[in-house]
Amino acid sequence: MLLTFEPVLARIAEEIEGLTDRGLPADYIPALAGADPARFGMAVAELDGTVYGVGEWRQPFSTQSVTKVFSLALALARKGDALWDHVGREPSGNPFNSLVQLEYENGIPRNPFINAGALVVTDQLHRITGDASGVTLDFLRAESGNRDLVIDREVAESETAHGDRNAALAYFMASCDNIANPVPTLLREYFRQCAIRASCADLALATAFLARHGLRADGSRLLTSSQAKQINAVMLTCGAYDAAGDFAHRVGLPGKSGVGGGIIAVVPGRCTLCVWGPGLDARGNSVAGVTALDRFTTLTGLSVF
Ligand code: DON
Repeated sequence: MLLTFEPVLARIAEEIEGLTDRGLPADYIPALAGADPARFGMAVAELDGTVYGVGEWRQPFSTQSVTKVFSLALALARKGDALWDHVGREPSGNPFNSLVQLEYENGIPRNPFINAGALVVTDQLHRITGDASGVTLDFLRAESGNRDLVIDREVAESETAHGDRNAALAYFMASCDNIANPVPTLLREYFRQCAIRASCADLALATAFLARHGLRADGSRLLTSSQAKQINAVMLTCGAYDAAGDFAHRVGLPGKSGVGGGIIAVVPGRCTLCVWGPGLDARGNSVAGVTALDRFTTLTGLSVF
C-alpha cells in the first residue's frame, strides 16, 4: 500500500495535544529535570531517506538510552558473536538501573539495553576503538547527514556528578572481570554517549540501517541481516525495560526509549520512527511517545504483527 505519512502524523499530533497526563521529566539527572512535558515531536523516515515530521521534529534533545542501540550495533559489527559472552539477551523484568540480578548472575547483565548491559557494550566498543562515544557520535552524524550533532557537556557533567548508581554497576562488573577498561574511563565514555543531542529527524534517519537489514545510508553494510534481526529482536523484548511487554502489546514494533523522552522504533523493510516528549511514566518511558507510537501502528497497520 502506498502511504504518505503526513495526514497520520497530523492526526497523532492533534490527539497528543489533548493528552492531559504526560508524566514527569527525569530528575535524577539534574540537567534534564527542567524539560517541559508539553513539548512533542515525531518523525518517520522512509528507507530512501525521505523524512516526514510533525511538532518539534527538528528540535535536538538528550538522546540518553536511545544511543544504546547504536553502540550495540557498532560493537556487534566489530566483535561479532563473542559480544554475547559479555551480555545476555533476555528481558530483565527490572528497572533499567537495577543492581539486583548482577550478583547472582556473575556480573553478566541480562541484556544490552539496561544500564549494566550498555556499560558492558560501551566498554567493549571502547576497548576495540579507543573512542566509544566518538565513534557513536560519528555514526549518528553520518547516518543522519547532520554534521552538527554534538555531545552536551552540561548533561554529561550533570550525570557524572550524580552517577553513583552506574558507578556501582560498573565496579561490580569489573570485580567479575566483565569490564576491560578502568571504570572511570568507561563511565566517562558512557555518560558522553548518553549526552549526545539529536532530533527526531536525526534519530529516525540514523535508525534506518535496522529497517534496511543492516545496510547504512551510503549502501555499505554495517551488520549482516541476521545481526540486524538480533538487534531488532532485543529491542522488541528489552527496549522498554520492565515495560517491554506493555510496549510490545501497545505498539508492536522493536523500540528503544531514553530518559530524555525520545523513543526510536523500526518497521523492518518499511520505515523508522522517532518520537520525543520529555514527560516519563514510572518506568522511564515517554508517555506522549508511547501513546504516539501506539496510535501510529493502529492507524497505519504498520507493525511487525
Ligand atoms: O545511565 C542512565 O541512567 C542514563 N544516562 C540513561 C538511562 C535511560 O535513558 C534509560 N531510559 N529509559
